[in-house]
Amino acid sequence: MNQWTPNAGIPLPPFDPVGLPAPAVVILALAYLTFTLHLLAVHFTLGSVLLMALARRQPDPARQEIARFLGTVAPLGFSYLVTFGIPPLLFVQLLYGQFFYASSVLVGVFWISVIPLLILAYGALYAHRLTRDRRPGAQGLIVTVALLGMLTIGFIYVNNLTLAMTPGRWLEIYAAHPGGATLNLGEPTLLPRLLTFLGLSPAMAGVVVWWRGRRLHRTPGQEASATVMESWGRKGIGVGVLTWIVGLASWVATLPEAPRSVLSGSGIVLAGAVVVLGIAAALPALLASRGGGVAAPVLSGTFLALGLACLILVRDQIRMAYLQDHFSLQAIPVFPQWGMLAIFAATLVAGVAFTLFWTVRVARRAAAASG
Ligand code: HEM
Repeated sequence: MNQWTPNAGIPLPPFDPVGLPAPAVVILALAYLTFTLHLLAVHFTLGSVLLMALARRQPDPARQEIARFLGTVAPLGFSYLVTFGIPPLLFVQLLYGQFFYASSVLVGVFWISVIPLLILAYGALYAHRLTRDRRPGAQGLIVTVALLGMLTIGFIYVNNLTLAMTPGRWLEIYAAHPGGATLNLGEPTLLPRLLTFLGLSPAMAGVVVWWRGRRLHRTPGQEASATVMESWGRKGIGVGVLTWIVGLASWVATLPEAPRSVLSGSGIVLAGAVVVLGIAAALPALLASRGGGVAAPVLSGTFLALGLACLILVRDQIRMAYLQDHFSLQAIPVFPQWGMLAIFAATLVAGVAFTLFWTVRVARRAAAASG
């Protein structure tokens, strides 16, 4: 386990002899927590860009207001998705480094292109925010660059992570493309997986637009805009949850037998929870009356976040089932470094608390500025 067994014919590097700085279960918990935060920020940002691209094409002031609001918050979301992407990047290397490094090298040309794509997409969002009034004619192109850049990054991640779970393909892929200019396009779960891990985007942005619409109802003279905002936000939640559930169903349908068997064991509870929480998030959006307080969008957002957390747990059970012939958590050497871990935990708690504080402050200021 966890090293090259020549008979299996898979050139698996041995597990890092330095081992884990804490028991695997602690590292897993931190990985799940931080990856949930990463995907929340990814969904919010991608959903904002998507809804902005649609809203800005319509000339009426209420939709222009939605586009403006989303264009203002999207760069902030992007900064969070990058920041919250780094801890899970450390943890995936700690736990699955043997697989993740190998697959990253095999798709190396595309993997390294994630960095310029990130700069391009992030830069495009800032360019939009800074030039939208001065150069309105250029904004269609700028927003499209941001949207395509983000989708391409998501696609490259899915290619790399699926290849990391299928080491039986490595030699063949390396023989065909030793320079790393390839992806894992033969993988049948690729597009369903992309839909599962990005499909919720309109819903996550929808929650924020709905919240914003409800706040705007308190501003005299803004009722019309507030109503359109609410309606867009609620539709975003409906569309996002539907896309997510379709993605999840198609992902499960394309899984090979061994990983799918996770869903006949404990995984079925988690997968069921994902669907139930998705529906629970959509219900307030479908049923709530217009113009109430912000409790309904907050409730929807909470259900979406919990559903995403459950999805991440199922995702990892499925990954372990893919790797069951080559990898075992129990076989990983552990050499605890509790001091380092305490510093990490304290920094994480302080960082998340500061981020929440800062986000609420920025949101309050933006709400106050608009009346
Ligand atoms: C627009 C930018 C990004 C998008 C759309 C995106 C999207 C995604 C998606 C869809 C996955 C799941 C892939 C799968 O399971 O098949 C993923 C995984 C991941 N992302 Fe991101 N990502 C972005 C940027 C980043 C950045 C900048 C980092 C690091 C700094 C990062 C770190 C990670 C890590 C570590 C994982 C895998 C975690 C694991 O397997 O446990 N991502 N991302």
